[in-house]
Amino acid sequence: MTTVWQRLRQLFTPATDAPPDGAAVTAAIAEVRAANLSYCGPPKLENVAEAALAVRAANVRGSWLEAGVALGGSAILLGRLKPRGVPLDLYDVFGMIPPPGAGDGEDAHRRYAEIVSGASKGLGGDTYYGYVDDLQQKVIANLRRFDVVPERDRVRLHPGLFEATLRPAGPVALAHVDCDWYDSVRVCIERIAPQMPVGGIVVFDDYSSYSGCRRAVDEWLATTDDFAPVFHRRSLGVRRAR
Ligand SMILES: C[S@@+](CC[C@H](N)C(=O)[O-])C[C@H]1O[C@@H](n2cnc3c(N)ncnc32)[C@H](O)[C@@H]1O
Repeated sequence: MTTVWQRLRQLFTPATDAPPDGAAVTAAIAEVRAANLSYCGPPKLENVAEAALAVRAANVRGSWLEAGVALGGSAILLGRLKPRGVPLDLYDVFGMIPPPGAGDGEDAHRRYAEIVSGASKGLGGDTYYGYVDDLQQKVIANLRRFDVVPERDRVRLHPGLFEATLRPAGPVALAHVDCDWYDSVRVCIERIAPQMPVGGIVVFDDYSSYSGCRRAVDEWLATTDDFAPVFHRRSLGVRRAR
């Protein structure tokens, strides 16, 4: 006998859950960019899509995760590319970015000074996301607007500092780490890497953008043979090889 829950799932689950084709991926990226919802300029969203399709093709088991959501642009893309049944966990303070620290260079400290001064400009002339009241609700609205429905699509938001919230309980097949500073990237590596099965991919958005991100990644890669870079086109994709 079909339960109410099973019936509801049938109604909300498409008959096929095939990965989107190239044209659909290109269209999804263009829509997100046109709406000024992502700081991931070319080719960074394209890199996220490539990694997402690679873990799908290799059937790597585990949840998908993003650390650093801001307005939700890259999260929308992940939500559109993932298999329906795979959870997507979104981690962010959903407010003002925390300060950089001693592991970061002058680039990060200069950028943070601009943000806290109130002078940071948003995408396309919008208000900078760090100055938006109730950013979490805005992100949920942005996801829904692009047909990523959290309760239907197993998308979960985890508000707070990664140090307190980011503790994946099971395997993580794909991680988009987009959080700028050394300490933030480092805590992501420490918490995510041990949970990643062979074939899993971490994309470090800021590898070519912020000195602290690059430093945290380089320090980590110097200590392990389990992970190896698979692409470096502004962002760096790192795959678990063994
Ligand atoms: C560059 S934005 C993310 C951009 C987004 N992926 C996009 O598509 O535009 C970086 C985000 O990481 C968050 N963040 C950085 N460090 C964090 C930490 N330690 N804990 C929680 N959130 C953090 C910031 O608040 C900010 O929302």
